[in-house]
Amino acid sequence: MKRIGLITSGGDAPGMNACIRAITKYCLNIGIVPVGYYDGYQGIIEKRSIELNFSDVDNIIQQGGTILGAARSEEFRTVEGRKKAIDNLILNNIDALICIGGDGTFAGANALSEEMNIPVIGIPGTIDNDISGTDHSIGYDTALNTVIEAIDKIRDTASSHHRIFFIEVMGRNAGFIALNSAIASGAESVLIPEELSDINALAKDLKEQNKGKRGSIVIVAEGDDAGGAIEIMKKVEPLMEGYSLRSSILGHIQRGGRPSACDRLLATKMGVFAVDQLLSGKYNIVVGAKGNDLVISSIDSAVENQSIPDLSMLKLLIKLR
Ligand code: F6P
Repeated sequence: MKRIGLITSGGDAPGMNACIRAITKYCLNIGIVPVGYYDGYQGIIEKRSIELNFSDVDNIIQQGGTILGAARSEEFRTVEGRKKAIDNLILNNIDALICIGGDGTFAGANALSEEMNIPVIGIPGTIDNDISGTDHSIGYDTALNTVIEAIDKIRDTASSHHRIFFIEVMGRNAGFIALNSAIASGAESVLIPEELSDINALAKDLKEQNKGKRGSIVIVAEGDDAGGAIEIMKKVEPLMEGYSLRSSILGHIQRGGRPSACDRLLATKMGVFAVDQLLSGKYNIVVGAKGNDLVISSIDSAVENQSIPDLSMLKLLIKLR
């Protein structure tokens, strides 16, 4: 193993830079050349790469985003696009490719390994935390903290004005951010894609809960079956006459910012672990963290399965009303 390619793909996530740093430094220290491609798979197609050196990864452990850039490449979804990528990886003497991203990134890595026989390894990097085979993905903890900070602020104004706020958070079709931010911020209700939402029951609950309270917070996962925060607020409005309702969509603020200590540690450990897996001949896998252990699972299972949040947390929320 002389040259390892590296991409960050899909949506960026805080901690990706810490992972790039760990992989780069470890590779260089053991005589492997780390080759970073810009903007995910698109950079491989367009031959945009850099042989990473120590100075390239100085002072990036604390930075959000990704110095390599990230993208969701449409061209790579085509056979012709992947053929170009494969030719360029061969031309650049890449012995293995490390792909940091989410399930879309892993589906791409899987296709590459099937079509060209290059060893690939996935590292879960997504704020959505929906990757099977790991308790947490890089970026999730930071996003959760960003969300909680925003909810705390909205709570201040909700309480001041006796308002009910519907706050929409990211997560695509997974409810990890929504459910856990709801618990951690003391929200009154949460709507997640993993549970069917009942608007009548929500309005009834909110009226009940609002008695004697100076405002309520409802967290809405962006992928909820009843719609986003604005839509849900509009559905609830006719059932809640006399109440002051507002909505807020937190948006991409959730993807940015300095990675938390947890994400820096996770990213660093996973980066070095991934290189070690390649050196010991293990590939076409995704690395993960279960409890205190670093683990591996097949890339197929990571593509086919989606992790779901612990639904017993919904009951916890109800117990704390
Ligand atoms: O997968 C990360 C994520 O932030 C999701 O939570 C969200 O649905 C999506 O990416 C947004 O993607 P984009 O930045 O392309 O709009």
